[in-house]
Amino acid sequence: MAASGGAAAQEASAVARGEYVFRAAGGCSCHTDVRRGGAFLAGGRGLETPFGTFYSPNITSDAETGIGGWSVDDFIRAMTEGVAPDGSHYFPVFPYTSFTGMSRGDLADLKAYLDSAPPVRRPNRAHDVTPPFGWRFTVGPWKWLFFERRRFRPDPDRPATWNRGAYLVTALAHCGECHTPRGLLGNLDTAFRFAGVKRGPEGQLAPNITPHKTTGIGRWSAGDIATLLKTGLRPDFDDVQGLMAEAIDNGFRYLTDEDRAAIAEYVLSLPPIDNLIEPDVKPPKSGFE
Ligand code: HEC
Repeated sequence: MAASGGAAAQEASAVARGEYVFRAAGGCSCHTDVRRGGAFLAGGRGLETPFGTFYSPNITSDAETGIGGWSVDDFIRAMTEGVAPDGSHYFPVFPYTSFTGMSRGDLADLKAYLDSAPPVRRPNRAHDVTPPFGWRFTVGPWKWLFFERRRFRPDPDRPATWNRGAYLVTALAHCGECHTPRGLLGNLDTAFRFAGVKRGPEGQLAPNITPHKTTGIGRWSAGDIATLLKTGLRPDFDDVQGLMAEAIDNGFRYLTDEDRAAIAEYVLSLPPIDNLIEPDVKPPKSGFE
């Protein structure tokens, strides 16, 4: 009994660590169809993009319609290489372009956590995307052009807190997938990393989060960023909406203060990019300019 008790304890701690990884990834909100009352992680949420609507798949532990039948290696391959167990490619709407940086340990823990969540039977829905973007065989060449499998490597010249922040922002929390504009083929425009998108995922405006003084968040302190990630409140006490609010509610607010501070440290160290992202309907002009 002692041995199996030990194994169970190990499993329990993998699940607990995996839950933390899950939170740091923003709670995988895209896989729960909140608007239509869908079950937790059972997919079916429509993600509107300029190429059409992608429906997120079921990632519950159901063996048949979810990913419960996958091995840890299947899961790691999907997350870091964008390849399904049957060898087909995933569309880059699934941010494996960021998750590729995740460590094997974090991925294995995340799989343990997902396996521990309730299975839900819900077959996946086909994407509704305009050709040629909906043709899966085009993803191979796309990856050749725009995807590099690269695990996160810490920068030895930077403090540990900065490196932790860099890992969280670029790999796990995949902040750039929403905050970086995309080129005509859906590739992240690396010259404008984190510099904001007018019509990002689900058509929402994702602001410039580089520390540019006037067009980004250069006037925010590290504490302001950490507070936003904990409470959803901006320094002007306005609260964030949409996908960011979901990522905070389901994810970032559960992180340790140290991790939120590390994210802020990294974000404020980014090169400032002058990129004004204006909403379509401008609020009435205030007196100061
Ligand atoms: C799933 C998409 C998504 C992800 C992932 C995401 N964001 Fe956001 N973020 C948004 C959207 C959309 C908004 C705008 C919300 C609004 O207008 O109310 C936003 C707003 C913000 C703001 C407020 C900026 C301002 O000028 O008011 C900050 C700061 C921010 N995000 C930082 C981050 C960081 C740091 C991460 C990663 C830890 C991250 N975001 C991950 C979509 C995302």
